[in-house]
Amino acid sequence: MKIMGIVLAAGQGKRMKSKLYKVLHKVCGKPMVGHVVSALESIDAARRVVIVGHGADAVKAYLGDRAEYALQEQQLGTGHAVLQARELLGEEEGITVVICGDTPLVSEETLQSMIRLHQEKGAAATMLTALLDNPHGYGRIVRDERGFVSRVVEEKDCSENERLIKEINTGTYCFDNQKLFAALAEVKNDNAQQEYYITDVIGILAGQGEIVEGFCLQEATESIGVNDRVALAQAEQAMKQRINRRHMLAGVTIIDPASTYIEADVVIGSDTIVYPGTVLRGATVIGEGCTIGPNADIADSKLADNVAVKHSVLQGAIVGPGTSVGPFAYLRPGADLGANVKIGDFVEIKNARLGDDVKVSHLSYIGDAVIGRNVNFGCGAITVNYDGFNKQLTEVGDDAFIGSNVNLIAPVKIGQGAYVVAGSTITHNVEANDMAIARERQVNKPGYAEKLRGKFAAKKQQREQQREQQ
Ligand code: UD1
Ligand code: MG
Repeated sequence: MKIMGIVLAAGQGKRMKSKLYKVLHKVCGKPMVGHVVSALESIDAARRVVIVGHGADAVKAYLGDRAEYALQEQQLGTGHAVLQARELLGEEEGITVVICGDTPLVSEETLQSMIRLHQEKGAAATMLTALLDNPHGYGRIVRDERGFVSRVVEEKDCSENERLIKEINTGTYCFDNQKLFAALAEVKNDNAQQEYYITDVIGILAGQGEIVEGFCLQEATESIGVNDRVALAQAEQAMKQRINRRHMLAGVTIIDPASTYIEADVVIGSDTIVYPGTVLRGATVIGEGCTIGPNADIADSKLADNVAVKHSVLQGAIVGPGTSVGPFAYLRPGADLGANVKIGDFVEIKNARLGDDVKVSHLSYIGDAVIGRNVNFGCGAITVNYDGFNKQLTEVGDDAFIGSNVNLIAPVKIGQGAYVVAGSTITHNVEANDMAIARERQVNKPGYAEKLRGKFAAKKQQREQQREQQ
């Protein structure tokens, strides 16, 4: 049976009190509408139509060709929103999943179970429901004596008795596509909000004697519909727990899940240990057997196997196998480290390729550079890559030694196996296996320290005498 999906994403989300359109607010680093479209992709929905209105361009720019789009110019309600997909889907035969763009937690498994029930029962509509202790704000499910769903009542249209119902509409449904669009044509807006409700389709189909099923969620948190920032935080919390659990079940040790924040698309290999205070973001991929944290903030970076990162910030970095980073290191975009590299404390690397076995152990800056294998940067050695106008390149050959407190003033090349003496400010290229020294020659004056102390003491005495005379 052909599966299609319609995502409702045209609302402004007034209750968010935000300049950002509601469905673009992020949950675990990914816009809510992105989570919903991912769920439809995971059940192989052959067509995915997103209803856009407020912020249409922004939503389209974000989703790109992951979906087709129908514009709802005026937001006249969720039923009216679904109707906008008629031009695209009206002729189709199959099952159409309708899902709100603000319910990011609805999972692949749940959609699959709902569709299975829908098919088994030969239903015209099946809605995803949940039992909530506090159903406030959600549409309530009214069932008949036999337990079939007979209609849905919105909070604002509820009678006192209906308000006590704890089974709610999650805003996710599957429909026989033809019956959906036929019933939609009959939906009216005679309700408290004067909107065309998708939920009225349920009552219409039930009234026609069609089978309408309710699939009740085991895990009510999946039903969270984000209308305000309080619900946004609840969704974040629930999603975070789900993500952490997925990684743990796949063989990742998370010492303290409560203080570990892993965004939705991050990949982590097995036997990696994640210590508290760690934030893993964006398109980050971490290999097997790594130790991450405590206090690592890693975004859009690729870490190979057996990497260690402690108390450090990584953005857009590539880290080779066996390499260790930190404590207190900062890898910025374009940092590309080979295997078994050692990056120590207070080291910053930006747009620089470092070969295998390089050591940059303390207090260094390497920017816009190509560093060969087995190079040692002493404490405080830096590349001087910026003259106030241009960024310039530093190149260092394999096995070179850069002493402590060396300034490599770019553009400059240090040859293979060259030796740069500590404290040098290097402005000219150094050939392979040469030694470079570029600093003032030291002068020692024998016994002069004693003389100097005498001089200072005499001066001090003179000053004290003057003060007494005044
Ligand atoms: C809706 C349901 C309610 C359910 C709840 C679950 C209706 C009438 N009510 O209420 O039964 O319990 O979701 O979270 O359907 N949208 C449009 N165009 C519109 C109006 C809304 O695209 O004209 C979109 C919104 O962007 C949003 C979604 O539809 O993503 C739901 O709209 P919202 O206003 O949040 O409905 P709820 O009041 O939450
Ligand atoms: Mg809502």
